[in-house]
Amino acid sequence: MTTAAFDTSRAYKPWEVDGKFFGDGREAALLDYVYSHPDLEQIRGNPARVCAAIDAFAQAHTGLINIGELKGALVCDTIAKHRPAVMLELGGYVGYSAILFGSAVKQAGGARYFSVEKNPLFAAVAASLADLAGLRDTVRVVVGTGAEGIQRLFDQGALRSQIGMLFLDHHKPSYTADLKLCERLGLIGAGTVMVADNMILPGNPPYAAYVRASAAEKQAQAARGEDAGNPNLQYTSRSVVSYEPSGQQDALEITECSGSAA
Ligand SMILES: C[S@@+](CC[C@H](N)C(=O)[O-])C[C@H]1O[C@@H](n2cnc3c(N)ncnc32)[C@H](O)[C@@H]1O
Repeated sequence: MTTAAFDTSRAYKPWEVDGKFFGDGREAALLDYVYSHPDLEQIRGNPARVCAAIDAFAQAHTGLINIGELKGALVCDTIAKHRPAVMLELGGYVGYSAILFGSAVKQAGGARYFSVEKNPLFAAVAASLADLAGLRDTVRVVVGTGAEGIQRLFDQGALRSQIGMLFLDHHKPSYTADLKLCERLGLIGAGTVMVADNMILPGNPPYAAYVRASAAEKQAQAARGEDAGNPNLQYTSRSVVSYEPSGQQDALEITECSGSAA
């Protein structure tokens, strides 16, 4: 997997405006921008063009906290390689990753992309744009925290057995706890791939330590009474360095589960 160089002509505007990084009206402005676009009928039903319109807004108007083109391409490569039937995302924001990755899952023959987003306004923007992209049958946006969304989808039977991929891009301190919840519910097994964003910016040492620990180390932690997922699961994990859409360096942590030690 190779990391493309950053093209400064495609950089997003700065995220920070008057001390705010999101939630200051820019998400509703994005929706207005897309739906009043002169090429709306060419954008409709075309996930790549919806993402291109979101990129164009963030390049010309206000930065958005999306994964962006370069890290997004690395995740799409991972989806094409592993062909998940079901993929779960934690942290959907305005739907850029759900549209990009939901489309990749569909192209790879997959059935469902669940996107859990805590903020109901952001979730509404995401659902509207995924619908515009023609992904109504593939992408389902769920309002709630990661833990609430995972548990609700499990209780409803929408997530019952092992998933193909998990994308973590929400509250950074919740990555490890929410992965452990997925493990306890039996959603992670041999062949499941986890992709975690923002491993440099801002970084997530507890998550990196957890996915790089051996089953023996995790079994010892569980025996000491530490909050456990399924300590028997064996992971192989690596960091892939790339760029934020602002041009700042960041990395994805890509982790593959090879099965259970017990
Ligand atoms: C970096 S953005 C996600 C970007 C999106 N994945 C993309 O690339 O297009 C992080 C999102 O996580 C949401 N969030 C924060 N804490 C959360 C939590 N505990 N559970 C679910 N979503 C959360 C925020 O509201 C925000 O929309």
